[in-house]
Amino acid sequence: MDQQARQTDRREFIKYAGAATALSALAVPRVFASAGADHKLQIALVGCGGRGTGAVVDALTAASYPIKLVAMADVFQHKMDESVTALERQYQATPDLVHVPDEKKFIGFDAFKHAMDALQPGDIVILATPLAFRWVHFQYAIDRGLNVFMEKPLVADTPSANRMLDLAKKADAKNLKVAVGLMIRHCRARQELHKRISDGEIGDLIAMRAYRMHGPVGSCFSTSRPKDRDELLWQIERFHSFIWASGGLFNDFYVHQIDEVCWMKNAWPIKAQALGGRHFRGDNVDQNFDNYSVEYTFEDGSKFFFDGRTMIGTRNDMSSIVHGTKGSGIVSTSGHFPGNCRTFKTQNQDKESTVWRAKQPEANPYTMEWKDLLEAVTNDEPYNEVPRAIQACLVANMGRMAAHTGQEITFDDIQSCPHVMSPGVAEFTTGSPAPVLAGPDGKYPVPTPGVTVDREYGTA
Ligand SMILES: NC(=O)c1ccc[n+]([C@@H]2O[C@H](COP(=O)([O-])OP(=O)(O)OC[C@H]3O[C@@H](n4cnc5c(N)ncnc54)[C@H](O)[C@@H]3O)[C@@H](O)[C@H]2O)c1
Repeated sequence: MDQQARQTDRREFIKYAGAATALSALAVPRVFASAGADHKLQIALVGCGGRGTGAVVDALTAASYPIKLVAMADVFQHKMDESVTALERQYQATPDLVHVPDEKKFIGFDAFKHAMDALQPGDIVILATPLAFRWVHFQYAIDRGLNVFMEKPLVADTPSANRMLDLAKKADAKNLKVAVGLMIRHCRARQELHKRISDGEIGDLIAMRAYRMHGPVGSCFSTSRPKDRDELLWQIERFHSFIWASGGLFNDFYVHQIDEVCWMKNAWPIKAQALGGRHFRGDNVDQNFDNYSVEYTFEDGSKFFFDGRTMIGTRNDMSSIVHGTKGSGIVSTSGHFPGNCRTFKTQNQDKESTVWRAKQPEANPYTMEWKDLLEAVTNDEPYNEVPRAIQACLVANMGRMAAHTGQEITFDDIQSCPHVMSPGVAEFTTGSPAPVLAGPDGKYPVPTPGVTVDREYGTA
């Protein structure tokens, strides 16, 4: 961009910012009005990976008044650098929106504190690290009086779920707004589908099914740790491989569809039984199964079947379907977005039996979830998605534990499961021991259904 274009863009930005200042003076969110009349809503990013960087873009896209990224935190310099480069490229025309000076870029396990300290009460922090750190970072955000956008999933174990629920109450007591990245809940097409189902368009839901089947993605497969890598940092980098860090691929990949189907049912399942195993794993040393098949049961006896497979050369499918006493519906056709939601008067789901089809193009739910959060901040409305998201995470954990132990797991079982998967997470520093260690063969403890049944994996 030449100098003149740069100046024009800057003038455009200032004009836009000025206009929006007038707007925000009218609609100044009470929660950050105390920070001063000229204070704009600021964002800090904790966890500068793919999703965190995407969430910054979503926030800036959704905002109707100027907000800007002012601080960033990560445990890896290269992740920070990649994120900065991507954001600067995307916002070449309005660099002020993402300009983070070097002294506001923090690296290390305590980086999150410094990034949040750069904000003022009422600003927003994005928490987009692997889930093991979620409650630690949420706790600090509440102490600092910050509104929060946190990525799903939230917890891999019940003690962390209980902490999150306690923290959610503290956030409410401080009138903070807290969003969780289960963005499907903010998809306008799914919202209309949910209303139609709740109004009885396809009768009572008696069977539900969801599939997430594709080849390996993210870090769900891992070969041995390079000897020169710090064990803890390597596990954090490959978080989909380790149940303590992510809930494994089960929670990280499947919680969206588990949540969307239960939403359509307006209920949470009371128990689960499941199958799963490791097939062609070669030299991989991670803790995941590569196929899962869960049967969830609701209180009314209806069933939700979830099939997950992470395997090369097999059929791909990423859809969620519901069957009612008077028809059926599609929640997701081939991914999270667009949903292409539909209802049908039969179970066949063909053109002839179509009752309703969501209008296309659909609004992007990743933008909508920010629009809804920012509206709650602006209008100072109660907003806390943590309790509902914790329920979804516990239901995911229930299915995962059923597969990993080979036992029927009730919701009461999962709610009382004492296994703390990442002890000492709040005190982690470089060089801290990792929560799981490899055995002499370099392999980490994998679930052994029918053998280890009171927890999901033993020690190496
Ligand atoms: N809602 C969605 O559709 C969606 C999509 C992708 C990912 N996610 C979620 O977002 C989260 C991040 O996933 P991702 O794909 O961006 O992974 P990623 O590895 O690209 O990013 C995670 C970042 O967090 C950093 N990090 C790890 N521990 C940290 C700590 N203690 N302090 C500071 N930084 C730390 C890592 O270095 C990395 O840069 C996960 O919980 C994932 O499930 C959600």
